Amino acid sequence: MEKTIEQIKDEAIKAVVAASDPESIKNLSILYLGRKGIVTQFLRNVSNLPPEQRPEAGKRANEVKKLLDAAFKEALEKLEAGAGISEEQTDVSLPGRIPRRGFLHPITQITRQICDIFTKMGFEIAEGPEVESDYYNFEALNIPKNHPARDMQDTFYISDNIVLRTHTSPMQVRFMEKNRPPVRVIAPGKVYRCDSDLTHTPMFHQVEGLLVDENVSFGDLKGLLTAFVHRMFDDQTNLRFRPSFFPFTEPSAEVDILCVMCRGKGCRVCSQTGWLEVLGSGMVHPAVFENVGYDTARCTGFAFGMGVERIAMLKYGIDDIRKFFENDFRFLNQF
Ligand code: FA5
Ligand code: MG
Repeated sequence: MEKTIEQIKDEAIKAVVAASDPESIKNLSILYLGRKGIVTQFLRNVSNLPPEQRPEAGKRANEVKKLLDAAFKEALEKLEAGAGISEEQTDVSLPGRIPRRGFLHPITQITRQICDIFTKMGFEIAEGPEVESDYYNFEALNIPKNHPARDMQDTFYISDNIVLRTHTSPMQVRFMEKNRPPVRVIAPGKVYRCDSDLTHTPMFHQVEGLLVDENVSFGDLKGLLTAFVHRMFDDQTNLRFRPSFFPFTEPSAEVDILCVMCRGKGCRVCSQTGWLEVLGSGMVHPAVFENVGYDTARCTGFAFGMGVERIAMLKYGIDDIRKFFENDFRFLNQF
């Protein structure tokens, strides 16, 4: 028995769905709609049907012809688009993707270098909390409530008595409370101040240093910090001690290093002074020793607190401290 036009249509659609490449669709199109194709033949044979069946059969066959034509075109487009992608996915000649290699942030690298230099000089390393009590951040360091020195540091308060530490100096007190002299310790870590410009960021890093023993002099402090600067940079690096004030040291000094950006001529990084401040220091104030129960008649010592970012800026010749925290790979990749 001859196949009906509906059977032909169903078979053709099944074949289209099963086809997996453009070539088979083209072949199906010829098989059904070509000059000698199955649907074409069917249409030709309509004239052989009994007259009353001819109009209906002719109409339906033409509908199927249109429907199949559209189905072939659509399937062809889909398969050709898909073929493009699958060829790309399997292009074995493409170079492989090289994973980016991790490295330490420049500030971590500099912090480790600083710690290395001091551990080789016999210092141990201690760490403490960034969320600190008013007592350790201020009171115990001889900075009582309402003392004008509290204005020097724009403090982030968590509550009345809890702050984000504004310096690493609270570690002096925490360490002395738990250890008897002689003491040689450094304490690296993050500190926070409400401050932001070319040389200040609201979060930055300090390394605190503390040495307590008998007969420690200001000359020892100068010698140690000079040796540190010469190891961190080189023997030729110029530094100067400038008289200063901290409530927890007496006498006090700040240390500046000759600005590497302008070699001392004066530029925007050093505020036209030719020098960049890297640390504060001084002889430990007897009031601090008293707060931790050390014998002020026998104990002498010095302390210092250095800005890690400032040292990194000088070491690498960076003119804006904020670059360290923008996470721009073009910048960070250089270290
Ligand atoms: C202090 O913080 C004292 N605690 C230092 C000290 C320790 C003195 C022990 C005596 C004994 P000062 O506020 O100057 O001092 O800060 C120390 C260093 O931190 C500065 O020299 C500077 O290098 C760096 N610094 C300060 N503020 C910022 C900031 N906002 N951004 C980046 N670095 C800063
Ligand atoms: Mg200062």
